[in-house]
Amino acid sequence: MQMESISNSMFSYVLISFLMIRSCNGTDRISQNQTMADGETLVSSGGTFVLGFFKPPGSTNRYLGVWYKRSPETIVWVANKVSPLTDSDGVLTIHSDGNLVLLNGTKRIIWSSNSSSADAQMNLVAELLDSGNLVLKRQDDLKAESYVWQSFDFLTDTLLPGMRKGINLRTGKTWYLTSWRNQSDASPGEFTYKLDNVGLPQFVLRKGSEKKFRTGPWNGERFSGSDVRSSSFIAPIFVYNDTEIYYTYEMTDSSVLSRVTLNESGMIQAYMMNKGSSDWILMYKLPYDMCEEYGKCGPNGICRINSNPICQCLDGFVPKSKGDWDVLIWSGGCKRRTPLDCKSGEGFLKLKNVKLPDLLDFRLSQSMTTRECERECLKDCSCFAFTDSNITSGGSGCLMWFGDLIDIQEYDDKYSEQDIYLRMPKSELDAIENQNKKRALLILVVPTVFGGILVLCFVICCTIRRRKKKRGMKKSNDDIELPLYQLEAVTLATKSFSFSNIIGEGGFGPVYKGRLETGVEIAVKRLSQTSRQGLGEFKNEVILISKLQHRNLVRLLGCCLDGNERMLIYEYMTNGSLDYFIFDQSRKKLLTWKKRFEIALGISRGLLYLHQDSRLRIIHRDLKASNVLLDDELNPKISDFGIAKSFRGDQTEGKTRTVIGTFGYMSPEYAFSGTYSVKSDVFSLGVLLLELVSGRRNRTLDHSDQHQSLLGHAWLLWTEDKALQLMDECLKESSVESQVLRCIQVALLCVQKHPEDRPTMAAVVIMLSNETVSLPQPKHPGFFLEGNYAGVSETSTEERLRTLNAVTITQLEGR
Ligand SMILES: *[C@@H]1O[C@H](CO)[C@@H](O)[C@H](O)[C@H]1NC(C)=O
Ligand SMILES: *[C@@H]1O[C@H](CO)[C@@H](O)[C@H](O)[C@H]1NC(C)=O
Ligand SMILES: *[C@@H]1O[C@H](CO)[C@@H](O)[C@H](O)[C@H]1NC(C)=O
Ligand SMILES: *[C@@H]1O[C@H](CO)[C@@H](O)[C@H](O)[C@H]1NC(C)=O
Ligand SMILES: *[C@@H]1O[C@H](CO)[C@@H](O)[C@H](O)[C@H]1NC(C)=O
Ligand SMILES: *[C@@H]1O[C@H](CO)[C@@H](O)[C@H](O)[C@H]1NC(C)=O
Ligand SMILES: *[C@@H]1O[C@H](CO)[C@@H](O)[C@H](O)[C@H]1NC(C)=O
Repeated sequence: MQMESISNSMFSYVLISFLMIRSCNGTDRISQNQTMADGETLVSSGGTFVLGFFKPPGSTNRYLGVWYKRSPETIVWVANKVSPLTDSDGVLTIHSDGNLVLLNGTKRIIWSSNSSSADAQMNLVAELLDSGNLVLKRQDDLKAESYVWQSFDFLTDTLLPGMRKGINLRTGKTWYLTSWRNQSDASPGEFTYKLDNVGLPQFVLRKGSEKKFRTGPWNGERFSGSDVRSSSFIAPIFVYNDTEIYYTYEMTDSSVLSRVTLNESGMIQAYMMNKGSSDWILMYKLPYDMCEEYGKCGPNGICRINSNPICQCLDGFVPKSKGDWDVLIWSGGCKRRTPLDCKSGEGFLKLKNVKLPDLLDFRLSQSMTTRECERECLKDCSCFAFTDSNITSGGSGCLMWFGDLIDIQEYDDKYSEQDIYLRMPKSELDAIENQNKKRALLILVVPTVFGGILVLCFVICCTIRRRKKKRGMKKSNDDIELPLYQLEAVTLATKSFSFSNIIGEGGFGPVYKGRLETGVEIAVKRLSQTSRQGLGEFKNEVILISKLQHRNLVRLLGCCLDGNERMLIYEYMTNGSLDYFIFDQSRKKLLTWKKRFEIALGISRGLLYLHQDSRLRIIHRDLKASNVLLDDELNPKISDFGIAKSFRGDQTEGKTRTVIGTFGYMSPEYAFSGTYSVKSDVFSLGVLLLELVSGRRNRTLDHSDQHQSLLGHAWLLWTEDKALQLMDECLKESSVESQVLRCIQVALLCVQKHPEDRPTMAAVVIMLSNETVSLPQPKHPGFFLEGNYAGVSETSTEERLRTLNAVTITQLEGR
């Protein structure tokens, strides 16, 4: 680094002012003739951030940096990354040339803001803003655009709300994260997390020049792979236009602190800290799992995290080296079973729900339609795959890949589909079609064969039973009076828990569809082995559900316990879950108003039964659209009692130290203080009713929705006497106005801020089903973020971590 000496006059000037104006502690700025020495600090006006000198652990060097007042060891920005001070004689001041500079003990500039627009005549001040941004500006200037210099333009290893990560296309300036070398050395380490703007923008994590993780390209709506999604706390912003491409985010509640860091081992982590707390809570990390490691499965391999093994070759491909593949060395990847010959008959195979392959050898044309794209790809012998480059409004644009496809990952979320079309020779397409035909045939043949087997089985079973009776066999598990299924039977029924059999994700693990040898279809909830549901909780769920019998509750058929494996076997619901219908543009049309109203009533009756009519008083605690299943007549059945709690007698309210559930459906008092009661379920029902009427999700904060939650939107329309506008367009013809209004009013009553203002389920059922009952006027609903954090901070750190992880995991499902 080139050192610049300071003029003599400046030297003495600095000395004088050094003596005259010693302390700037407590203020948030220094002006042109002031200094800040080691030991002194600037504190931002709101008291959030501190600027000062610090020494990292395990080092004797000193740096100028910014940290949190509440968490002094958390450094968010460093000035002299590559030129640390070796003593405590450092001084920060504004140089006569108008730059912010750091001087060492002999008054040599060891760091400078190097601001091109700096000008000594401008009467400058350096101010630490409450966002953590250290800015150099004219004394009376307030606008960010005219700052002479700002630290937010020079990222270190931390992204704060309001900081940008990306590129200014006009100036070529880039903003990206760089890890520290190690925890005692702030100089740039090996890892960077940077925007790659080749074709379509995507963020890439690299170690040196080697790719480690990428978000997948921007598809007009989001990154095709995982990245920070909007949540109850974070509102991400992505700007993509001719001048700028960048990501930034805002906190929806400014009292919650948050940061995203790239640590020296290449892990991107987002943390938050609640008001009144001084502990960081991990919100998520990237790469999120093994499948997100760049190119995990090699060229033409696909990673499926729920499969065993996680890597497979794409359809029509086989391992390049079978030996390697068999011992789980996947890096060699896969090759085509039948090479493309570019003859007629070649076509495409659709690959659903994937992170788009890396943009290595590709062509992009934003103006083509999907049809044209397919034709164009077929024309070019070396085109391997294509997809829409922009998925908004039905899909447009054309992205084509040439050569091997790298870093493909399949997601198991059926709602955020990004598909690609893989080119296949005719023979492969025929083979796949034949396979499908065979499968269809099997379904026809099997029942007749099963008929025979069934009779046989019946005879055998009865014989065994009689024998058991004779021997007086005890039940295998004295407190579970449920059929115990053998692991082998369940494994067989679910094709060894095959990925393609997954039909959903419950609170604690995947749910598989299965077909028993008897032909009976079942849904198997397989609790993940890392699931926090212990044996106790598991038994609790089993016993609870086995005692519940109601036409609006999913029936438990039995369970399976084997070593670490724990599974619940339910009756299979042919029509999946409610969210599958009401939030889907075409499927939503299948649910007419009459049906929806029946569903609303059915859910309410089911919940009433749980709260009041069953022998136990049960609070569901995670009622949401995806937990309402539909049978073949589209009758609703409430499922997933994994976190239900039962109360005996007159106990109606409880407090939990572990808040589990789903943001968006949680009542304020439950989300923030863990207090739950039957009224928390009523709140969730209210949200669900609004979703049912509107066909929109209550994502509490989704910036594409102008920061308006469904609750807020409904309330606004209600107060403006326009409540009917909330109704889903597709219900226009089938709706009954009075019922729709009644439903909305009841929903608003259910989502009142104070539990005591919400009706009981008994009242809800009466209000919904009885046209003549007059309803009270709802007040302003309770929003999730209005709660009070105090309750949460009463729990221990460890519990909070667990708690927030649970909540985060629930959010991450929404990929
Ligand atoms: C400022 O400019 C000098 C000279 O060009 C250079 O050596 C130094 O690294 C720059 N400092 C920063 C913080 O960019
Ligand atoms: C410090 O700067 C202010 C304005 O920039 C000026 O009014 C004042 O005279 C200066 N003080 C000294 C000691 O130079
Ligand atoms: C200040 O920096 C200069 C240039 O790097 C160096 O020669 C000098 O020894 C430093 N002074 C102190 C006290 O570290
Ligand atoms: C950090 O890195 C520096 C430079 O590579 C090295 O000298 C130092 O020993 C490292 N410290 C730790 C704690 O690893
Ligand atoms: C994607 O398509 C939408 C709708 O046609 C358009 O508004 C948007 O600008 C496009 N995005 C990009 C990145 O081209
Ligand atoms: C790009 O977006 C930024 C931020 O919204 C805006 O300030 C800028 O004017 C936009 N540029 C163009 C060319 O639209
Ligand atoms: C980086 O973060 C990961 C994930 O939390 C952690 O396992 C690792 O120890 C961290 N590395 C360092 C050097 O702190």
